[in-house]
Amino acid sequence: MRFQQERRADTHGAFLLPHLRPSMRLLDCGCGGGSITTDLGALLTAGIVIGVDKSASQCRTARKLSRLRGLTNSFFECQDVQRLEFSDATFDVVFGNALLDHVGDIDGAVAEMVRVLKPSGLLALRSPDWTGLDISPPSREVRRCFEIYKQQVRANGGDLNVSSRFVTLLPAHGLVDVCIGQSLERHPDSRRLAAAVKVAICRPDAGSNPDRRDSIQRASSEFLRWAEFEAGTIAEPWVEATGVKRPAQMATGEASAGVFEFGVPGKDCAQGARRGLGLVAPG
Ligand SMILES: C[S@@+](CC[C@H](N)C(=O)[O-])C[C@H]1O[C@@H](n2cnc3c(N)ncnc32)[C@H](O)[C@@H]1O
Repeated sequence: MRFQQERRADTHGAFLLPHLRPSMRLLDCGCGGGSITTDLGALLTAGIVIGVDKSASQCRTARKLSRLRGLTNSFFECQDVQRLEFSDATFDVVFGNALLDHVGDIDGAVAEMVRVLKPSGLLALRSPDWTGLDISPPSREVRRCFEIYKQQVRANGGDLNVSSRFVTLLPAHGLVDVCIGQSLERHPDSRRLAAAVKVAICRPDAGSNPDRRDSIQRASSEFLRWAEFEAGTIAEPWVEATGVKRPAQMATGEASAGVFEFGVPGKDCAQGARRGLGLVAPG
């Protein structure tokens, strides 16, 4: 969706920013058109940022944006996160915003992200919590549009409930100092969102049943009307998770400080991750 290109590091990656140092090597998985990635590239002035996406056209868009922004440390490659073409222990930070929702093999993807992370490196994941979608004023048809979108993602092998798994997923992959937090995205322009959702759910492959196609058309037209004439607003909670790759010297099973601190990653929970990254002395 085109509005994704307006996502920025300070809105969609704010939880990650306190962990960054200028010389880091960062991998952004499922980078899309690179709007967040290039922001991260601009921040890591002495480091390197690589964005990977399975879509070649997204990578082209991202490269163009990187050139426009004059970045010389940001690179984009067409790769599948489930089979990353990097050596083990390459990156200080591996990030994925709204990625795992669209990946068929979630555990395989996380295993790859952890594999390419250096020991003590940081994994940072962020995905929407669709159960908390706030549609105001309430509209059955608008909610239905999102349900149709969810069904389509599921039919393509994705899972829009993945954010609820973060709390178990990261420890299951051996990460420590896991922090889970939440942020709220209030969509600034519901009309544009409605138009983007309409394009997404009214694709020609939306289904062969003409009644269903008509009802999807009606629901998305109602979404547009609701946005235009009822000044409707949409707010969506996102789940944000960070975890540190177990440092080589930490034995499996050894307790680490701060596992499962709930709060705001990058604020309440940053201490453990920062210790992992060597930013503060072990305490
Ligand atoms: C919802 S978009 C998010 C893009 C970007 N991270 C953002 O937040 O704006 C999901 C992106 O993940 C990419 N993607 C989905 N499955 C992937 C996979 N297996 N490997 C790499 N990229 C993938 C899609 O092509 C798409 O660009």
